[in-house]
Amino acid sequence: MEKIVITGGKPLAGEVHVSGAKNAVLKLMAASLMTDQECIIRNVPNIKDVKTMMDILRSIGAVVELSADGVMRIQAKELSWEAPDASAREMRASIQVMGPLLARLGKARLSHPGGCDLGARPVDLHLAGFRKMGAVIQEEYGHITGQSVRLRGQEIYLDYPSVGATENLMMAAVLAEGNTVVRNAAKEPEIIEVQNFLNCMGARVRGAGTDTIKVQGVRELGGADHTVIPDRIEAGTFMVAAVMTGSEIAISPVISEHLEMVRAKLREAGAEIEVAGETAWVKGNAHILPIQVRSAPHPGFPTDMQPQFLALLSMAEGVSIVTESVYTNRFRHVDELQRMGASITVDGRLAVVRGPRHLTGARVRASDLRAGAALVLAGLAADGVTEIEGVGHIDRGYENLEQKLCGLGADIHRELTVPVEALI
Ligand code: UD1
Repeated sequence: MEKIVITGGKPLAGEVHVSGAKNAVLKLMAASLMTDQECIIRNVPNIKDVKTMMDILRSIGAVVELSADGVMRIQAKELSWEAPDASAREMRASIQVMGPLLARLGKARLSHPGGCDLGARPVDLHLAGFRKMGAVIQEEYGHITGQSVRLRGQEIYLDYPSVGATENLMMAAVLAEGNTVVRNAAKEPEIIEVQNFLNCMGARVRGAGTDTIKVQGVRELGGADHTVIPDRIEAGTFMVAAVMTGSEIAISPVISEHLEMVRAKLREAGAEIEVAGETAWVKGNAHILPIQVRSAPHPGFPTDMQPQFLALLSMAEGVSIVTESVYTNRFRHVDELQRMGASITVDGRLAVVRGPRHLTGARVRASDLRAGAALVLAGLAADGVTEIEGVGHIDRGYENLEQKLCGLGADIHRELTVPVEALI
């Protein structure tokens, strides 16, 4: 058991490096299962979710190696169609191996990813798409099993632009017979990454980044060599850190257009932001202004930045309203932020934040990845010492977070916690 300990109130300065995008890497790893040739993925972050996905890939027969400089090599010569429960249940992204396995082996079985800390997270859109392409899908005894001789290209309309379903169906369609069109597709930058990677493997996919994706099925795929884009959520988290501590920092590398909405909202809150090439300069202001934020599919405000903004807006001078439109239960960080002095009222998917509040250090617990990030940010801005438990959630998606923040001048470190039972 570990905890992160932060002594807040220190100004930040300098430049921080952004790692490769978690939400792209996990999907590229799944896509690598569709060929027996070697796939190379560069700029892979050393985070827990990547390790879990490595375990899943290895458990079904792939050889996976990650070097210290972030180069991952995957070769899936012989594959099993069954993903063992243990690792698959740990991470929702495990559902992303379903499309590749169905496409390559005509069979797949894995543990149902179920719900999670953010509320109900069904996979019905993934499964409806596979069914439409001719797969027989059964959901029994906590498992999903799919079978099909060869998937057939289809016109698929998604009821919601789900990121995961769009990617899974794109991957399945690549080796299907004929053409597939996915309409009302998700438009996140990570979808473009999946398209680029698949095309590097020899697939014929176009339209990613728009709401219509067209895939022309091919017989087989070859290897690929691809460098992953920078993580826009990690970059956004550092931007909020600068604003909450009234500091000026440089963040790089970033892709400017991936951060448009976050940038616009931070400017509305009074921050100064300049992007030149791959570097974003962010300067916080002594006065943070209240704003309205509503999470929505890309190019809307990312749900993965909502918890960090809630922490920020608790310091704003007035009333802010934050609406979470993507998930049903993504305000679990509110109780912990209140322990640090925030004034937030939640009613369903709406949070009313009353500021300005003077945040003070407290013992708090991260309930999920981005909730953990929000608590770290609050700790950086708070007076006194903040101790954050549930560090494992933060490790899922942030590479060397304490080291990076220390490099900017924060007073943050990790300690082992001794469970109470061990003291008795
Ligand atoms: C979501 C985010 C994505 C983020 C990722 C990691 C959106 C639209 N998606 O992607 O930006 O990077 O989390 O935190 O912001 N849904 C269904 N049925 C399905 C699939 C999804 O009802 O089969 C619903 C979900 O319950 C949720 C919404 O669609 O309410 C978005 O889900 P989806 O985009 O699939 O989630 P992720 O792929 O995890």
